[in-house]
Amino acid sequence: MTRSNPIVAIYPGSFDPLTRGHEDIARRTLRVADRLIVAVAHTSTTQKRGLFSVEERVELIRKVFEDEDRIEVESFEGLLVDFARGRGAHFVIRGLRAISDFEYELQMAQMNQELWREIETIFLVPDVEFSFLSSSLVREVAALGGDVSRFVSPAVLEAMKERFGG
Ligand code: PNS
Repeated sequence: MTRSNPIVAIYPGSFDPLTRGHEDIARRTLRVADRLIVAVAHTSTTQKRGLFSVEERVELIRKVFEDEDRIEVESFEGLLVDFARGRGAHFVIRGLRAISDFEYELQMAQMNQELWREIETIFLVPDVEFSFLSSSLVREVAALGGDVSRFVSPAVLEAMKERFGG
């Protein structure tokens, strides 16, 4: 297939922190898109409650994907559709782990469509070994001294150890 315009996808989220499940979804995206922008949402609530600041998350995600020049990492404020439009991205990528994700994801996808008719949401399914993973569980397990080394990349693990003093 020849394309004059590269397909640019955007993968938004809180990523506090990026898990191996997120990583899997991002790498799978490169099978269907030419470039991927991982977009860390910058809202006052995530800023206050987060384990890592938005800037720290961006730096960590850049480290995780330093081997992949088709992946860029940025933060954004405001509406996702405005950020996507500004970056020339027409595809939002979201991971679907279980049916419990579906309702929230469907609502977001349809709201985004209402906000910008040209946006499409593509759902990708992570490897089954990551289907139970979430950032909030990883944070909780790490905070209570559990081993999260199978769930996050070495760079993220290192940063979590520093944060929790382990
Ligand atoms: O990883 P998360 O926390 O489930 O990601 C949610 C996120 C960041 C994708 C969503 O809250 C979002 O898109 N926020 C940006 C603000 C926005 O556009 N809100 C309307 C979405 S329907």
